[in-house]
Amino acid sequence: MKRAIAIGVLAALTSFGAAADTYPQRPITMIVPFAAGGPTDVVARIVAEPMSRALGQQVVVENVTGAGGTTGITRGAQAAPDGYTIMVGHMGTHGAAPALFKGLKYDPATSFDPIGFLGGVPILIVAKKDFPAKDFKGFIEAVKAGGPKINQAHAGVGSVSHSTGVLFDSQVGVKPTLVTYRGTGPAMNDLMAGQVDFMADQIVNVGPQIAGGTIKAYAIATPERAPSLPDVPTTKEAGLPGYEVSAWNAVFAPKGLPADVKAKLVAAVEAALNDPIATKRLTELGSNIPKADERGPAALQKLVESEVARWTPVLRSAVESNQ
Ligand code: MLT
Repeated sequence: MKRAIAIGVLAALTSFGAAADTYPQRPITMIVPFAAGGPTDVVARIVAEPMSRALGQQVVVENVTGAGGTTGITRGAQAAPDGYTIMVGHMGTHGAAPALFKGLKYDPATSFDPIGFLGGVPILIVAKKDFPAKDFKGFIEAVKAGGPKINQAHAGVGSVSHSTGVLFDSQVGVKPTLVTYRGTGPAMNDLMAGQVDFMADQIVNVGPQIAGGTIKAYAIATPERAPSLPDVPTTKEAGLPGYEVSAWNAVFAPKGLPADVKAKLVAAVEAALNDPIATKRLTELGSNIPKADERGPAALQKLVESEVARWTPVLRSAVESNQ
């Protein structure tokens, strides 16, 4: 009997070891919690390619939308921690959401294994191309005068476009009508068509449209102008110095990965951040490639904790002040 138990334990240990050694044995799902074509989706697909090469299995993007990105992230948090489900979260889902989304079914700081930071992304205030203001000051005056007749697009409560949007609204004292989309990809279509008036969104989504003249940018919410958009003034230059916000994207897995599996995923993100094609594309779109001290799980965990701590009081008071 003892011999049988020993053989059984040995077999179990060997198979477990073998599973971790040969991970991944099948494609990996990368949940993107917003609609295809938006900033999160674009960044995810850029890094999925070199991650697939590093892992030797296809990283397949699955768009799981709704509820400001929390539907997809909740799905990811509840997935088996086996390395076959990962997700792209960001400053909204893993920073702003706790302050804005009632009944959040995950905790950004404890429900996940952080895998790797994908980089900071500047935020811009952009409008339909025939919005009747020639500069940021005029834009703010027009939005104030328009009140609820002005439509502001966002990707759901707690998303980047929602949280940075309501912060803008509270700082300038405007109360537009908020229009929800499953991502700022679809929102961009309506902005280009003039169906909505403005939004706060990430440079990776709005940059190409600004360059193409299909929408207009009034300001970028970073201390310095973006190299790819040299004519867009900073919010400080344009008269709103207090509005400096940046988004960021990162890869997470459900909590509890085997150490070997986590190490392979961390290495795959690092490979993506060192891949010349991926980094060229991300840089062209205006996403900042993480510096060495921003990389790896520990740095990402610290970022999530600091972002939740930073955004919770700011956004709670922003929402209260704009009631
Ligand atoms: C958001 O948080 O606004 C999202 O990034 C939008 C998107 O990726 O579609």
